[in-house]
Amino acid sequence: MREVVAGAVIGDGRLLLAQRTYPTDVAGLWELPGGKVEAGETREQALRRELGEELGIEVRVGRQLGDPVPLRADLVLVALAADLIKGSPRPEEHSAVRWVETPELESMAARGELVPADAAWLDDLIELLAVR
Ligand code: C5P
Repeated sequence: MREVVAGAVIGDGRLLLAQRTYPTDVAGLWELPGGKVEAGETREQALRRELGEELGIEVRVGRQLGDPVPLRADLVLVALAADLIKGSPRPEEHSAVRWVETPELESMAARGELVPADAAWLDDLIELLAVR
């Protein structure tokens, strides 16, 4: 079983979302950025590496957010809360990034603008934003 780790990155009380460019079914939709955990890596190490490569940011990784979401028979998606500690996100592999507060996140979810797997974490994300 492979894992994909996604970061619920908080900076200045807002949540970071990144816009996907592929595959076509989710291109243009917004996600919690992250990527696959490689052999020998912890989830935390994988998330720190992916966010460095994709966005040029450093984060402090916290607790698991919500429940894992099965993507395929052999692939599961896990979200981790994280705090921005250094850098300003520059999209290397996404088409754009944005920082959102709860009302905007809710509108995006209602309009179907989040990738489907991540939309399952909406309540957890709202709770995370509420305590920051
Ligand atoms: O980003 P990457 O292509 O490595 O992601 C691997 C898989 O995880 C893809 O199927 C992607 O759609 C999914 N994913 C997701 N939500 C995220 C990050 C990745 O559904 N936040």
